[in-house]
Amino acid sequence: MRRVSPTPKSDQGEDDFLISVREGLRHQPKSIPPKFFYDAHGSHLFDLICTTPEYYPTRTETGILERHGAEMAEMIGTSCTLIELGSGSATKTPLILRHLANDAVYVPIDICEPHLLNSTQRLQAMFPALQMQPLCADYHQLTDHAIKHHAGKRYVVFFPGSTIGNCTPGDAVKLLKRIAALVGPGGGLLIGVDAKKSIETLNAAYNDAAGHTAAFNINLLKRMQNELGAQLDAEQFAHHAYYNEEHGRIEMHLVSQCKQSIQMDGESFAFKAGETIHTENSYKYAPQEFKQLARTAGWHLQSTWHDENEWFNVHYFSQSASESLKLAR
Ligand code: AVI
Repeated sequence: MRRVSPTPKSDQGEDDFLISVREGLRHQPKSIPPKFFYDAHGSHLFDLICTTPEYYPTRTETGILERHGAEMAEMIGTSCTLIELGSGSATKTPLILRHLANDAVYVPIDICEPHLLNSTQRLQAMFPALQMQPLCADYHQLTDHAIKHHAGKRYVVFFPGSTIGNCTPGDAVKLLKRIAALVGPGGGLLIGVDAKKSIETLNAAYNDAAGHTAAFNINLLKRMQNELGAQLDAEQFAHHAYYNEEHGRIEMHLVSQCKQSIQMDGESFAFKAGETIHTENSYKYAPQEFKQLARTAGWHLQSTWHDENEWFNVHYFSQSASESLKLAR
């Protein structure tokens, strides 16, 4: 396993967190970007969410990859470099890696270094013949040069889990364009996308009875206390998640239970009772909607696989060589 670390991350990460929280709390309505959920504890809580009976996306996508992984690997082709964005625990990755030829290279990219290294070690033990090059980075900030390209190799991004749903549609198009530039001419994209479904099913998935989603949301406040020295009472905020039908997205919020303020870095942020910090959007796309969105970013749909309820879709998109050159300019 060859480790690639492009930036000395820890200081940069802390600044980024402070700047984003300060900006987000100054703004009306208040918000904090969801990428800050994923410190080591938040990543662990996310893994717990994925095991709950209510959170259907993980088991549904896993079922699709189990059934169709071989066809997906065939589309990816031989001599490929598979780049996984936000690889986390990489639990679904073996379902693709087991069908790839031994000359494949796997590049997991994740912001949380311990999680990245643990999961890569586990995968390397499972697939000793594959070359693995973990990259500790924020994939939202990757440049086209983050991956060295070798002649004769195909570059394919694997982006499971419907993480694209955590971007606004406008940001999703920008990210899909960046992915196109990252894989270069002839590259591919294998992406999992959660679909629209009954409001009851969606609301239950983000309000699990065990309280893991609530703890995941509230962990943001604990990170602010521990890492930024924010003075706040986490018990005076409550988890709230609901499906916003107009926007086709789940919204997660932290709701202030009373009139209060957070002190941080010499600044005071006032909250009215009931005022919220918007912490996450999770957009849900009908297959046609997502195909259209990806088309705007220059991707051509090759194949879609789904479960029997059509709750979740895994799409394979390709880049024509000329399209990639246009996007890279
Ligand atoms: C990572 N992402 C796709 C998850 C989602 O469903 O939007 C994050 C999550 N938030 C609450 N539960 C899961």
